[in-house]
Amino acid sequence: MPVDPQPQAVLSPLTESAVFLTLTVADGGEQTVRDLLPEVAGIVRSVGFRLPDEGLTCIVGIGSDLWDRTFDGPRPAGLHPFREVVGGRHHAPSTPGDLFLHVRALRLYPCFELARLVRDRLGAAVDVIDEVHGFRYFDRRDLLGFVDGTENPTGDDAAAAVLIGAEDPDFAGGSYVMTQKYLHDLGAWQAQSVEAREHAVGRRMLDDVELDEQTQPSDSHVALTQIVEEDGTEREILRDNMPFGSIARGEYGTYFIGYAADPDVPERMLTRMFVGEPVGNTDRLLEVSTAVTGNLFFVPSTAMLDDPPPARTAAAAAEPAPARSAGDLGIGALRGAR
Ligand code: HEM
Repeated sequence: MPVDPQPQAVLSPLTESAVFLTLTVADGGEQTVRDLLPEVAGIVRSVGFRLPDEGLTCIVGIGSDLWDRTFDGPRPAGLHPFREVVGGRHHAPSTPGDLFLHVRALRLYPCFELARLVRDRLGAAVDVIDEVHGFRYFDRRDLLGFVDGTENPTGDDAAAAVLIGAEDPDFAGGSYVMTQKYLHDLGAWQAQSVEAREHAVGRRMLDDVELDEQTQPSDSHVALTQIVEEDGTEREILRDNMPFGSIARGEYGTYFIGYAADPDVPERMLTRMFVGEPVGNTDRLLEVSTAVTGNLFFVPSTAMLDDPPPARTAAAAAEPAPARSAGDLGIGALRGAR
């Protein structure tokens, strides 16, 4: 393992366009996926070299189940299937997903071309279970009309928040990514006063200033997603949420994507949002937002993508598969589940 492995493009700036592809891998398709990993950088060059101003990047994430099916040896310490969150009134489901592509660029067409090439390369080894084309909206706002991403960490703080370090040395330079697709009831949201919407988010709508302590409700999104430890340390994640939608289907959504060095951080945020802090004091955004997918992936360093861990041997494959957690893939096929 080289010293100081470089991360994939998790720290690259937010872009105008993105394609989010979630795939499942058929039994027997593991070797095809393992063979693809060292080729991804070359496919990015094939598309991106001709388009130097596009900032094209592709991040690959690997789910817990696929990791165990594909590789031998140590596994990333924090990797497990997405844990569904069941609150009194809200539910964050865990849905199928073995492999994840986060493709970003200025415009959509390079993202589309890159995703197409990777998908072609994987052939019958995979099914695309979810595909979202994200777009930049006015002033970096989400479809709820609020600027989204303001409090993301930057520079060294961002690297510290998202990159695995000495705590898991075999996987240093890697990261974890949590994804959730949310659908919004825009009619119900827009029927609320601007003040009520600002209280739900915790920031002012027009100028994006955070509400002061006296005005900030304890069940605003911002109040519930700010995690400050007793010693004053703030636990952060790096988000690259994107709006998406379909006029024909009346579908208006936010694709939530959060990178973290430790999945415990976004998981705690989710629990606070869905179960409440204290219990029952849930995120007001969830009154108009329904999570329809939920996945967690490990994002290897570039060195590990170029030289993946050894393939799982036939002997290891004959052993019983590791036990799954209760929340693992608890719901049926996602296709058509809207
Ligand atoms: C319906 C989906 C979501 C929408 C529309 C949304 C929107 C927003 C907006 C508008 C802000 C305020 C501006 C900013 O700092 O970015 C924000 C902040 C934040 N959100 Fe979300 N978000 C969603 C889901 C989530 C989820 C699932 C998590 C965590 C698991 C999360 C974590 C955060 C964090 C950490 C902040 C910054 C809080 C602060 O330090 O002020 N968000 N979000």
